[in-house]
Amino acid sequence: MTNLAIDLMGLTLKNPVLGASGTYGSGFEFLPYYDVSLMGGIIGKGTTLRAKVGNPPGRLFETSSGLLNCIGLQNGGVDYFLREILPEVRKIDTHFFANISGSTIEEYGILAEKLDVDGVSGLEVNISCPNVKAGGLAFGTIPEDALAVTKEVKRKTSKKVMVKLSPNVTSIVEIAQAVEEGGADGISLINTLLGMAIDVEKQEPVLSNIFGGLSGPAVKPIGLRMVYEVYEAVSIPIVGLGGIVSVQDALEYILAGATAIQLGTANLINPLAGSVMIQGLEHYLVEHQIDDIRTLIGKAHHKEEV
Ligand SMILES: Cc1cc2nc3c(=O)[nH]c(=O)nc-3n(C[C@H](O)[C@H](O)[C@H](O)COP(=O)(O)O)c2cc1C
Repeated sequence: MTNLAIDLMGLTLKNPVLGASGTYGSGFEFLPYYDVSLMGGIIGKGTTLRAKVGNPPGRLFETSSGLLNCIGLQNGGVDYFLREILPEVRKIDTHFFANISGSTIEEYGILAEKLDVDGVSGLEVNISCPNVKAGGLAFGTIPEDALAVTKEVKRKTSKKVMVKLSPNVTSIVEIAQAVEEGGADGISLINTLLGMAIDVEKQEPVLSNIFGGLSGPAVKPIGLRMVYEVYEAVSIPIVGLGGIVSVQDALEYILAGATAIQLGTANLINPLAGSVMIQGLEHYLVEHQIDDIRTLIGKAHHKEEV
């Protein structure tokens, strides 16, 4: 018998495979493809205090091994989520983490409080959003801001809190340590990397927002490096993501120190990605006669013991 179950921030997950925010709907949208309750967990689409229509078209663009997006956090707002979406989420037998985005520290707190309800296992706090009171710099780029958001969210919820880091920083370790100090129960990384594309016929940027977030296989080596670095610097669990499409990718992240992984762009390439990943990890364990996936977490750091 092999064990795929893991402990994440005190929660038991059936396996370490989660659907990433913005790429997995609220989970139930994937029910036509496979039984979503097989997943270790679901991270909801970014939820804001008020409804957002997002950016105008020119919001997605495929690049070499990657995808640029500037959706602009389109969502119905937290009250719509609680009223219309959460009842559907509750029917799925897996952990649901609400992903929250604020434009002020107070907004993060209000969101955390409103989402402190049954059917939500925890929060994933997206700190890649601009702080409108600090000249629009993202919370996740300034250690003091990242710490303040984490503290405020923790103060307003009884749920587990993982903070999702932005890779658009000089020192990911500094931000990771700040959110740990702020009381985060876990860390997920990475969000998308800022990029752009230009249409040479129109001679103008492709995306309506000019810049967008790069995801997909192109970003995997960066995400992996950051998980490896953060693992050595904090003692809270890490959920790794960024460009994971194959079993090999997921294992690399786990060996670098991730307790669990998220599939993002992979869901847009193959809607069955979650189910295929869970089977693939199981296969790998059986083939390599490994009893428990947890024995692999961070193993790439201890070469001398192998
Ligand atoms: C279309 C799209 C929408 C996204 N929306 C969100 C979001 O609402 N909140 C968030 O924290 N991350 C969002 N992300 C980022 C992903 O959750 C993930 O961090 C990123 O895409 C890297 O993982 P991947 O390479 O596996 O896709 C979005 C990504 C994509 C491609």
